[in-house]
Parts: sequence; structure tokens; C-alpha cells
Amino acid sequence: MKVRTENGEKDIRAVWFEDGKVVMIDQRRLPHELVFVSFDRYEDVAESIRNMTTRGAPSIGATAAYGMCLAALSGCDLEEAAKVTKSARPTANDLFYAVDHMLNELSKGIDPIVAADAYAQSMVDKCTSIGEFGGPLIKDGFKVMTHCNAGALATVDVGTALAPIRKAKTDGKKFFVYASETRPRLQGMQLTAWELNQEGIDHAIIPDGSSGHFIREGVDIIIVGADRIAANGDFANKIGTFEKAVLAKEFGVPFYVAAPISTFDFNTPTGKDIVIENRSEEEVTMIGDVRISPVGSPALNPAFDMTPAKYVTGFITEKGILKPEEISKVRE
Ligand code: MRU
Repeated sequence: MKVRTENGEKDIRAVWFEDGKVVMIDQRRLPHELVFVSFDRYEDVAESIRNMTTRGAPSIGATAAYGMCLAALSGCDLEEAAKVTKSARPTANDLFYAVDHMLNELSKGIDPIVAADAYAQSMVDKCTSIGEFGGPLIKDGFKVMTHCNAGALATVDVGTALAPIRKAKTDGKKFFVYASETRPRLQGMQLTAWELNQEGIDHAIIPDGSSGHFIREGVDIIIVGADRIAANGDFANKIGTFEKAVLAKEFGVPFYVAAPISTFDFNTPTGKDIVIENRSEEEVTMIGDVRISPVGSPALNPAFDMTPAKYVTGFITEKGILKPEEISKVRE
């Protein structure tokens, strides 16, 4: 992704491996500061996933792959490292996919750094293909809505939902993006808007509760990412996705889910079987160190919701755009 720094424009990734360490953007500090942190123990890498230093399903997967790489280089028990890494967050399928992939590669004697780098690069290539397939869905003059951050930060580079948006921009189209703020962690406001800004893409941040208002006024397409897609096409994504999908159907707006095949979980039959992560009350009741709710009022904080397949117009994958009933074709 292109970022503007004091020393000019730079091309960086969300996570990579350098000098024996996993280096990543600390996404909790954006958009205020672009700060990089690095770890040389797999336990700390798992913690960086849990505390959302890095986040977004494909970036979580790549980070986990690098964590497994560190475990292998340090001669740690790989089964234990896999267990610790997989326990960092429950919903994103890519986390489990990446750890199993690394266990398999390492069991074949493949060099840990080569295997993890190849995994991260494959994510970037898949996202580039998602952009190629999804870009043509965005026409000149379109109003595009997205939710949370399914951009380069969430996917090592390029993005899933933001890949077609980046491609449409590269192709010279003029369009406008609504980025919903995404309470409580504000990935839409702080990360998607930051990426769109860096790329000079015309956009506005909207409050989560205003989606219905803008969809009725005239959104042409909604594109979101996914954390896990069940075998029947039901999918989990950031809390707030479900109501956008229902509203899209009500107002005849095409609703697309952009995700690599690593996000599909064919062992989970339906969305009801997807484990939804519940995070701390403080993410809802506090902003930074300041409490914004009455003491004594509890808060509920499901990080994701489940959208049934019937609301999905298509899944934009690295293998093409698939209707929900077609996804079994890409089972690996
Ligand atoms: O809790 P997060 O920030 O990891 O959740 C991220 C999302 O829900 C994204 O929309 C999803 O992972 C797709 S990322 C390409």
C-alpha cells in the first residue's frame, strides 16, 4: 500500500519478516501515527493478534504464519505453538487455515521463512486477483459502501473489499465511497478512511446508524470483507454487516462479499455454527481512558455478526465471482 511519509511516498505491507523478527504496523495507533512494532517470540505474535495490533482475517493469517515461522526457527514445540496461536481469536478462518498450512509446510522440511513469506505473498496475489474480478463491478459515478476495514491493513496488502475499489481508481473511474465508522473499534473511520486518504480516493466517513439513510438515498453497490464463510454461503463479518445486507436487499442494492478462498470454511455447515467472538465491555463503554457510559450499565460487545447467504449477490474471490450456491466449486 502507498503511504505518505515525511520522506515521501512509500510502499509498505501490514506485516512482514525482517532480521529474524515479525514486523507489523501497530494498527491501534492509526490514523494518528504510523508506528511499526516487531516481535521475535511466537507468543508475542499471538498476543499481537489477540490485542488487535494487527487485525483483519488475511493479515491475521499471515501474522500467524510468521508466528509459526518464529516457533520453528527457535526450535519450539510446533503443536504447542499452533495451539497458542489458534487461541488468539476465534472467528477469522484464515488464522486456523494459516497455522495448519504452516504445520504442513514445516512437516515437509520447507524453510520456515520461505514458507511464511510465500504465504503472505500468496495473500497479496489473491487480493490482486480479487481486485481484477471485482473492479469492473464499480462503474463511473457509483456510490460504493463498505464496512469495517477490509483494506491493505487487513490483508497484508491491497485488500479484499478495497481491492475492487483500488482497481476502479487505477482504471481512472470516478466514484465515491461511504466508509461506516464501525463502532466500537472504529476500523472504518480510522483504518479504511486512512487508506482511502493515502490513495486519494473520494470518500466520507458515516456513522454506523446512518447506513439505512444512505442506502435509501442511493448507494449503487456494497462491498464488504468476511472473517469466515460457511459451506452454505452464510458468513461472519464485522458487527454491523448484517443490517447493511438486509437493507441492501430491501432497496435492490447489489451486496458483494470479497474474500480469498482461505476465508471459506467448508467444515462449518451454516452460519449458525460460526463462533462469534465476544470482546470486552470496555471497548464499548470507554474511549481511550475515558468512560462514556454510566457506571453500572453493562455493555455487550459481539465483534462479528452472521449474514445469511440469501442476502449475498456474489462472493468476489481470487477464482472469480461466485453466487452463494456456487461456492462448493472452490473447495480446496
Ligand atoms: O475485528 P477485526 O478488525 O479483525 O475484523 C475485521 C473484519 O471484520 C473485516 O471486515 C474482515 O476481517 C475482512 S478483512 C479483509
